[in-house]
Amino acid sequence: MRAELIDGKAIAASVRADVARDVAGLRERGVVPGLTVVLVGDDMASATYVGAKEKASREAGMAGGTIRLPADTTQDALLSLITQLNGDAAVHGILVQMPLPKHIDPDTVIRHIRPDKDVDGFHPENVGKLLIGHTDGFVSCTPAGVIEMLLRSGVETRGAEVVVVGRSNIVGKPMAALLVQARAGGDATVTICHSRTKDLASHTRRADILIVAAGRAEMITGDMIKPGAVVIDVGMNSVPDATRAKGSRLCGDVHFASAAEVASRITPVPGGVGPMTIAMLLRNTVRAAERTVS
Ligand code: GUN
Repeated sequence: MRAELIDGKAIAASVRADVARDVAGLRERGVVPGLTVVLVGDDMASATYVGAKEKASREAGMAGGTIRLPADTTQDALLSLITQLNGDAAVHGILVQMPLPKHIDPDTVIRHIRPDKDVDGFHPENVGKLLIGHTDGFVSCTPAGVIEMLLRSGVETRGAEVVVVGRSNIVGKPMAALLVQARAGGDATVTICHSRTKDLASHTRRADILIVAAGRAEMITGDMIKPGAVVIDVGMNSVPDATRAKGSRLCGDVHFASAAEVASRITPVPGGVGPMTIAMLLRNTVRAAERTVS
């Protein structure tokens, strides 16, 4: 293996230590940052993610917890709960775990969350603020985590050719918006590729920094990567593997073994971007709490 690993777990631990210090400072001023996570239904992966968010917020000294609702909860009941949380001064951050059951419209739910408590950064007001460069909103945690990771690893984005594979509202689009901002962690020349892109490899091979968030297991192979590129793998896929006791294994959107022979630096899956997402959620929640006192 040629590439050096970018250790998301270690970088996330240092962000979380900063957050814990900020939480302690707020507590001294009589404010306990509170994060409430809402989980509707019993999707196994969502339950795991939510458990990790709850544990991390507790470890950072925050208040709050998870409200678990049955899969047949009506949209009106969920909106009523959000109204109540919107008005609760002890709740600084609200996160409704996605995906929601099919009978609930996620856009209606996201729009119902008070923008100043939307620590996921999904509300249109926060997405708009990101696009016009206002820093008083909240930025979606995964792309914010990728930028933080690049900054803390000393990867220069200014003037770099960055290719983002994936155009989701949660990762691809906000990722590109952050990378083009005129500030640290930005100033890049950005290309967004997606499922309709012609000749994907011709784009990815030009990237100094390649960020992959397409949701397709191991779709980027070493031959699609420019020698010496920095590769950030946002994917998290479970694929069948008969050699494992569980019958499956976790992998990213990048074929790690071949990519690591070509790249200069690469994030592993797991232990790369995933831990950063949670760290940025905690940071957003602290910021939400700080804004209520200053
Ligand atoms: N489901 C998968 N990732 C996320 C996330 O970052 N936020 C929420 N609310 N749901 C998710």
